[in-house]
Amino acid sequence: MCGPPHVIPEIGTPRLRLRPWRSEDLDAYAAMNADPQVREYMFPPRPLTREESEREIEELVGQWVRLGFGHWAVELRESGDLIGRTGAKRHEDWDLDPEHTEVGWLYARSAWGRGLATEGATAAVSFCLDELQRPEVISIAHLSNLASHRVMRKAGLEWAGVRRWHERRVNVVWYSSKRTAAKTGD
Ligand SMILES: CC(C)(COP(=O)(O)OP(=O)(O)OC[C@H]1O[C@@H](n2cnc3c(N)ncnc32)[C@H](O)[C@@H]1OP(=O)(O)O)[C@@H](O)C(=O)NCCC(=O)NCCS
Repeated sequence: MCGPPHVIPEIGTPRLRLRPWRSEDLDAYAAMNADPQVREYMFPPRPLTREESEREIEELVGQWVRLGFGHWAVELRESGDLIGRTGAKRHEDWDLDPEHTEVGWLYARSAWGRGLATEGATAAVSFCLDELQRPEVISIAHLSNLASHRVMRKAGLEWAGVRRWHERRVNVVWYSSKRTAAKTGD
């Protein structure tokens, strides 16, 4: 199930390990995606089957191989448990900019409310801007997903707009962070 781990770097934060996916992650990841509250603002907005979760992991790993970025498996350092995923994606149906890099996150409900998503998001944004030298990182969320909007702001992204994501039939907000001259050394 899991692709070559050497293309996925590992990043440590004070409480988290952002690491390559392992085949044994499927149980915990499928359990998160079986929770309707976790999936409320995701696409599709419904619980996923175990097979769908497995396919998602394959797609996430495939994107690392194709593009050099993707979503990591997020492990809580203190327990070693898989608690979520975070990282960057490219959505083929986001038509504003075909080259965009979108940071996102999904965590098990038991992990919510402790600043962990913000900690992971901050590391993911910094990886994209500083390591990958992407000129801009965006993040997109359902208009009603206020917790996610807050994570975007706390991770240093700024409000960029509201729009209809036509292919998904939802209204979304999107946020952005651009690499600064200081970071580029210009
Ligand atoms: C969105 C999500 C990652 C947030 O995780 P989290 O661990 O609670 O995030 P953090 O603790 O880092 O920060 C959440 C912030 O949102 C705030 N918040 C939470 N629920 C809120 C709500 N309903 N309205 C407004 N703010 C809210 C929290 O108070 C916190 O802000 P604060 O630190 O200023 O108090 C988590 O809810 C999740 O995994 N949801 C399901 C998947 C999902 O929707 N992913 C995003 C797709 S765009």
